[in-house]
Amino acid sequence: MRVLVTGGAGFIGSHAADLLARSGHEVRLLDSLLAAAHGDGAARPGYLDDHELLVGDVRDPDMLDRALRGVDAVCHQAAMVGLGVGVSDMPDYVSHNDLGAAALLAAMARADVGRLVLASSMVVYGEGRYSCARHGVVRSRPRSPDDLRGGIFDPRCPHCDGLLEPGTVPEDTPTDPRNTYAATKLAQEHLAAAWARDTGGLAVALRYHNVYGPRMPRDTPYAGVASIFRSALARGEAPRVFEDGAQRRDFVHVRDVAAANVAALARDGSGFEAYNVCSGQPHTIGDMAGTLAGIAHGPDPVVTGQFRLGDVRHVVASPKLARDELGFRALIGFDEGMAEFATAPLRD
Ligand code: UD1
Repeated sequence: MRVLVTGGAGFIGSHAADLLARSGHEVRLLDSLLAAAHGDGAARPGYLDDHELLVGDVRDPDMLDRALRGVDAVCHQAAMVGLGVGVSDMPDYVSHNDLGAAALLAAMARADVGRLVLASSMVVYGEGRYSCARHGVVRSRPRSPDDLRGGIFDPRCPHCDGLLEPGTVPEDTPTDPRNTYAATKLAQEHLAAAWARDTGGLAVALRYHNVYGPRMPRDTPYAGVASIFRSALARGEAPRVFEDGAQRRDFVHVRDVAAANVAALARDGSGFEAYNVCSGQPHTIGDMAGTLAGIAHGPDPVVTGQFRLGDVRHVVASPKLARDELGFRALIGFDEGMAEFATAPLRD
């Protein structure tokens, strides 16, 4: 297949492009080399030398028409990611992520390209799945600032106010985005589903969990926790763990995420499907900080009790549907992946 990878110069897009090429696909990259991800006046990263790269914006219809020429499928990774700095970021997130997806989908319809893999995120779920000892599976209430200030970090039952136990999130869990980035990722999914219905195309949304690995950008307000801890250790500083460090995430290696993209591109059918892309082996943030610090022989993590209102407590997912329907299974274990990550180069 000839595949256009948007955001192909980025962390996940570049690994997807490498694996697609190694799997026998022809790859073209479209990337605007966004300053927030690549630095001001960014040059073409050296790891792209083997790929055809168009430097341009996914919101630009003319650029899209050029980029889609002769293409069979699109792997849409271009996005503004992370929590950002605040509400002032909202227009930029909506523009890059939602206007960008809409422009891409319209261009795909013009070019008669009927196959899309969309980089989505576990953030569409908001808080993960929880159960209450008295009321069974419930939708958790947003965590209150008073609880967080008082060191109560687990969410509460909407019926009895009791603290909840975390469980595993399947794909049919109701979505509940809790920050701007999450809202724009969910809107992308809805736009892709509308496009698939209208055109008879196939859209596969991959809900990435916490992706880490080589080429991860250095820490910025837009970076994930693994990059923040890794960058702190590289400076000889202790990782600063928020809350009590017991919040759980599923860390999935970027080469596994690339493999999920290749598997999703091979899926048959039409319509819209969403899959968790995760390892199925959750870890706490405290555990991840300790593991990285241990490998890097750095200072021990400091648990600060600080919190960010946009953060969710635990998101632990089921990898079953992706395994059953895409044949995808994460192969790089936490210890092996973190050992490589602790010394792998980050991006400037
Ligand atoms: C992250 C990404 C999100 C992505 C999702 C799935 C960011 C900011 N978030 O969401 O874009 O869609 O994974 O791949 O990139 N923490 C610390 N110390 C710090 C920073 C964070 O302890 O210095 C804690 C946070 O309080 C949180 C956890 O680490 O509990 C994870 O934080 P983070 O990686 O920022 O966000 P996710 O919600 O996991």
